[in-house]
Amino acid sequence: MKVLIIGNGGREHAIGWKIRQDNPEVELYFNNGNGGTAQIGTNLSLKTVEDLADFAEKEQIDLTFVGPEDWLMKGVVDTFQERKLSVFGPNKKAALLEGSKEFAKNFMLKYGVKTAKYKTFNNYTEANEYAKNQTYPLVVKADGLAAGKGVVICYDKFEAEKALDEMLNNKIFGEAGNHVVIEEFLEGFETSILSVFNGKDIYPFISAKDHKKIGEGETGLNTGGMGVVAPNPYFTEELEEAFRKDILEPTLKGLLAENLTFAGIIFFGLMITNTGVYLLEYNMRMGDPETQATLPLMQNNFLDVLHNALTGNEITLNWKNQHTVCVVLASGGYPLNYETDFPIKGLDQVTCPYFVAGAYLKDEQLYTSGGRVLNIVGIGDTQEKAREQAYDNITKIHFDYNYCRKDIGEL
Ligand code: AMP
Ligand code: GLY
Repeated sequence: MKVLIIGNGGREHAIGWKIRQDNPEVELYFNNGNGGTAQIGTNLSLKTVEDLADFAEKEQIDLTFVGPEDWLMKGVVDTFQERKLSVFGPNKKAALLEGSKEFAKNFMLKYGVKTAKYKTFNNYTEANEYAKNQTYPLVVKADGLAAGKGVVICYDKFEAEKALDEMLNNKIFGEAGNHVVIEEFLEGFETSILSVFNGKDIYPFISAKDHKKIGEGETGLNTGGMGVVAPNPYFTEELEEAFRKDILEPTLKGLLAENLTFAGIIFFGLMITNTGVYLLEYNMRMGDPETQATLPLMQNNFLDVLHNALTGNEITLNWKNQHTVCVVLASGGYPLNYETDFPIKGLDQVTCPYFVAGAYLKDEQLYTSGGRVLNIVGIGDTQEKAREQAYDNITKIHFDYNYCRKDIGEL
């Protein structure tokens, strides 16, 4: 069996690792992959959707898994399906639930998915006029994909004016900012819920808690994610019930009614406030680093899960009664400027799963290449034990100017 995984981060390394753990005979291909995936499969450097489909056809790839959202929005699933190639992920139309915030919010409103109140604009003057009369903080969002940078929390009307000017007039996000969503600020804590959709029903994963800021105690600049714990210790059964009723069920109803059906992932980005569980956003792919923290707890053979999703069969997800704490080891200076090409030492001493996010392999040696370099995943019967394992292992790993947050998984 041959599986092609599209993407090049820690998420894709973790997906490959899980598939290989459950199915050691599987041959893995990654496009483009990284220094970690090179150790469990073959890295490719294909450029276009057509190149990928040609490769899958010629090499008789049994299943292709699409990691990141940009490939989904390029229509990789549509092309594979036209060419009768097996592919896991939403088509371009369904991927718009992540690719356009306006589309997503209109869908939520239409089907009663609980979300922040909002209005959409494509005209600067009208948007600014509206923003002036709102209560603050206020959230301004570029409609399209902006590599995680398109959301601005504004604390007064001047900040809103600046954000709207940059998006609608100066086009700092290009076409992604042709439309903007202005929405109510929700105060609370966030929870990430990944799920699998088989075209008929949505099967949620255990919950996870991301840590988006560079500094301890959620301070400093935003990043792609500095760590994740799973399950999210604050996401109680009562909240899970509310999530099912107010978010999952209306989403499913909408997907079926709009014929947005597919075999793939839906990632619910939730905000829990004192008035309930709200949906901030859909992502139509696995989270990074939520994947690295949740897949090690999955008891199912992941290939069976993917197969059942693709054939529309029922899925029962089973989870280890354990906890993970995933800590991101980054390059000093990230998310601003940082240096690369430092050798990474000590990984042979590591006793827990780890995934490569930004490093390349040269003569059997890993060298740093990105801002986020490694994901170290401690596993334990309690969150505290998982946390200890992650940080103990981090002391064994060395590369110049490395940085991690010290408070991931602190209760
Ligand atoms: P999004 O891409 O919509 O998830 O936004 C990115 C981040 O911005 C979220 O993870 C939240 O931390 C924050 N955010 C987005 N929308 C809101 C909102 N309505 N209220 C408060 N924070 C928000
Ligand atoms: N960790 C958040 C994301 O993958 O979008």
